Amino acid sequence: MGIRVLASKKLFSLESKETQYVFKVDENENLAHVYFGNKINNLGDFEDERVMELSSNDSALDLTMEEMSYFGGLRFKECALKGSFADGTRDLKLRYSGYSLINHSPLDSSISKTLCIMLKDEYYPIVVKLYYRVYEELDIFERWCSVKNMGGEKYTIEKVSSGEININDDELYVTNVCGYWGGEQQLFRKPISGASINFESRRGATGHNNSPYFIIDKDAKEDSGEVYFGVLAYAGNFKITCEGMPYGYTRVIAGISDFDFIKVLDFNEEFETPRLFIGFSKDGYGKMSHRLNKLTLNYLSPMETRDDIKKVLYNSWEATTFDVNCKNQMELAEKAASIGAELFVIDDGWFGERNSDKAGLGDWIVNPCKFPEGLTPLIEKVNSLNMDFGIWVEPEMVNPDSDLYREHEDYVYSFCNRKNSLARNQLVLNITKKEVYEYLFMRLDELLTNNNIKYVKWDMNRHLSEVGAFNLREDRRREVFHLHQEAFLNLVSDLRENHPGVHFEACASGGGRVSYGVIPYFDDFWVSDNTDALDRLFIQEAYSLIYPVSYMRSWVTDCPNFYTKRTIPLEFRFHVSMTGTLGIGGNLNKWTTEDMEIAKNNISIYKEIRNIIQRGDLYRLISPRESEFSAVSYVIEKTQGVAFVFLKSQRYAREKVNIKLKGLQEEKRYKVLYDGKEEQLGGDYLMHHGINLHLRGDYSSSIVKFYVEERKN
Ligand code: DGJ
Repeated sequence: MGIRVLASKKLFSLESKETQYVFKVDENENLAHVYFGNKINNLGDFEDERVMELSSNDSALDLTMEEMSYFGGLRFKECALKGSFADGTRDLKLRYSGYSLINHSPLDSSISKTLCIMLKDEYYPIVVKLYYRVYEELDIFERWCSVKNMGGEKYTIEKVSSGEININDDELYVTNVCGYWGGEQQLFRKPISGASINFESRRGATGHNNSPYFIIDKDAKEDSGEVYFGVLAYAGNFKITCEGMPYGYTRVIAGISDFDFIKVLDFNEEFETPRLFIGFSKDGYGKMSHRLNKLTLNYLSPMETRDDIKKVLYNSWEATTFDVNCKNQMELAEKAASIGAELFVIDDGWFGERNSDKAGLGDWIVNPCKFPEGLTPLIEKVNSLNMDFGIWVEPEMVNPDSDLYREHEDYVYSFCNRKNSLARNQLVLNITKKEVYEYLFMRLDELLTNNNIKYVKWDMNRHLSEVGAFNLREDRRREVFHLHQEAFLNLVSDLRENHPGVHFEACASGGGRVSYGVIPYFDDFWVSDNTDALDRLFIQEAYSLIYPVSYMRSWVTDCPNFYTKRTIPLEFRFHVSMTGTLGIGGNLNKWTTEDMEIAKNNISIYKEIRNIIQRGDLYRLISPRESEFSAVSYVIEKTQGVAFVFLKSQRYAREKVNIKLKGLQEEKRYKVLYDGKEEQLGGDYLMHHGINLHLRGDYSSSIVKFYVEERKN
């Protein structure tokens, strides 16, 4: 496993437990892709195939599956790299010029050394390095690249992608999501053949629409079929291009979007792209999700909070919106504690003149009318109830009606002779500007230093527009989208360094910041402002394909739901939220004694099983897209698990559903608790015969627990 080099054939093979990725240097010193799929032992078997042009219109370069296509020569396909030299030449001619294996000290011995392939331009002093690493146990490969200007004159990068994937097959399909505020994660799957499809963000954040990943397959299902996938670890404007080539292969290019992006490299300057994690599963989508989930749990999530189990939180936003004060928050805190919440989060409205969304953003000072003695009395009260305290912020933004803006109009992005567009009455701060960054760091650091805050919900309620940044050198101003996301992540990282152990939640009007770029800096995602339990079944299923359950914050809120106007029983709402990291967001002042009992009971069940949910492998047993019933289970170490079964709407009095569990050991006996029964059943029985559950009425749900009983000798 790891990296093998067959020097005689200039062949490079990346190998994990089940997967192999092979490329070679071809006769023109170009890097050609050879293979991606199940493992093949003998590297000598890879034949030296020479790709010839098909006609004067169909060049050998377009017919070649390349590791990094660039704008140059007879290439008409989408390129991964494009730039221009100071003398006006835009054509690149990169040639292989050697490799090295970088022996970093990996945190885990199951990560290979880094393979670095060096490419140099034939004439100009430009060096491109392609990097590859193997997560051997996870069957995941990591790729990125860098471009370095070794000459005295500027080199202007107009596009640089993290990587390019080639699949030696056509007639394939790509899966992604689209959406909008409250309607995130709407799954689609479409044919790539004969077309070029782009998923992109031009918003300065990844946004609610498409998501920075790809899933490619021909006929895969949950547990069968070949699936190629990749996730881009980037928090800003991204672009994923899938091209169905007419020559029988399919390609994907993933990286920073070239929309309004230009990076000028001075002498000796190097630009490194975000990381792209790719994988191949021969057994359908389920395995892909398990591998990506483990990638977050074992490698990507912030190290210092990685082992923390996510607490049950109460967030007061829907109960009090901007109308927060010490008294009403204390009352809610008491109620939240009484049902078992462990973390009390005060949302928007606690600072400046923030009585609505029209004012106050930017003034991160506690509002003295709402909290005359500061936040301390509330935090002490929350702590005395055995809960941690969390707080909402939206640091990248400012309302024109704020002290910050009145004093520093120049702190926002803007162009000359243009009026800035407002969205939710706010403007975007130019955090690439040193003094803005320092102001925000100072205020937030002060907030976290002076108050016992254990959780920060970081929001972003509008996207970037009119991104004039005159603090930047004239030829660097088209880099601003990229620099904004970099400054945002640096700010979080600097705060984490000063306040280790504090958890950060990434929110952007709901799920506008769900991405692998954010995972290394945050602990939770607010997946959607849409908390309607029926919509959530779909949103959460789509989310779970790629993103980790331990980041999937899901609140139980009130009915009729503010967004969909739908009314759903509280038990069902709890069960849907319990399939992620549980939160409560309803107005507890309006909950009846019976509601509070349902809440208490479910929160206590969740605490018993959350380790399995947050750490285990997720199995999508029945999709809500396929039937009125749906079911999802979580299994840890094949010995313990829990399944949630839902009935959306009862049709023709059908109440029976057969649930076949997955991920168990055939030969083991499991204790199974369901439908008020307790049974001893074999793993083989549970997986092949399954158990029958009876759900009665619209929006009914049930929990099944199962575990191998330790034999007491
Ligand atoms: C949008 C978020 O998604 C909500 O949860 C809430 O925090 C509001 N912003 C507050 O303004």
